[in-house]
Amino acid sequence: MTHCIAIHSYKGGTGKTTIAANTAASLAETGKKVALIDLDIYAPSLHNYFKITPKKWINDFLDNNADVEETIIDMTESIYNGKSLLGKIYAGFSNPNRDAIFKFEISNGSEYWKKQFRKLVFLREQIITKMDIDYIIIDTSPGIRHWSINALSIADKLILTMKMDDLDIEGTKKLLNEIYTTFVKFGAITYILLNRISGYCVPVTLINSPEVKTNPAHTYFKQIDSNNKLEMQNPQNVLEGLEEVTGIKYLTPLPCYCDIQFSSREFLTVVNNPNHPFSKNLQHIINEIIKE
Ligand SMILES: Nc1ncnc2c1ncn2[C@@H]1O[C@H](COP(=O)(O)OP(=O)(O)OP(=O)(O)O)[C@@H](O)[C@H]1O
Ligand SMILES: [Mg+2]
Repeated sequence: MTHCIAIHSYKGGTGKTTIAANTAASLAETGKKVALIDLDIYAPSLHNYFKITPKKWINDFLDNNADVEETIIDMTESIYNGKSLLGKIYAGFSNPNRDAIFKFEISNGSEYWKKQFRKLVFLREQIITKMDIDYIIIDTSPGIRHWSINALSIADKLILTMKMDDLDIEGTKKLLNEIYTTFVKFGAITYILLNRISGYCVPVTLINSPEVKTNPAHTYFKQIDSNNKLEMQNPQNVLEGLEEVTGIKYLTPLPCYCDIQFSSREFLTVVNNPNHPFSKNLQHIINEIIKE
């Protein structure tokens, strides 16, 4: 059976592409055949992540100009460079050219939307039947625009990534209540993943504060108020609050790692640095997801 997992968020920059690419590689390393699909139609970035310009884009497939074998490319050799691997990793890229984005963004009436959606369902079906894939991992556009919802509709597991800032939490709550409940009603399993939690990158001015000394890893530094007092928020409380309000389960939060955040370019940490705590933590999260 093929599992289809979409990584989504309310706001941009929550780590969707990073988590999608590393999850795909991590699953391939355990012997799975994985297809990583960029459905961030409005602001594609996966081609940039892999530094590739494919001959055919997903847009070509949706436009009847390519078949699935041309669109979903085997990336195993270019990632692993001759290293033997149990599984396989394929990827399909979204076209970043302005005209391609406009074409898919402009509303051409409901018939056109329906046709595009049917084609997307067909893409999923072709990946499953022609490529014998175990996991489809979908990178999506943030928010609730047309293509974000399309991407979520073809997945059976949804991971909603978020960062610890208030707007994001409020937006996420709204998204869960207004959009995700429909998918849950039709059988999708949904998780919240809090990414880039602080605590590992302690601002130098706070290193000696009692709050940091007692619990550096699980504390979110909301802000320092005008009296130089530290206001704190615990991620666990936020997640429990969200679960209570929405009924959606949460995964183990993923810390913010300075070396990843400030590196010029994160690229498949799970492959290039398997002992990094990011890789270990992500593996743990993947196990939480696939056991269901
Ligand atoms: N756990 C983490 N620790 C540190 N840095 C991270 C972590 N996760 C992601 N990042 C960094 O955060 C930045 C944004 O990540 P990414 O591009 O994956 O987000 P995104 O949700 O796909 O963004 P967009 O909505 O723009 O597509 C990148 O520089 C990435 O390296
Ligand atoms: Mg992205």
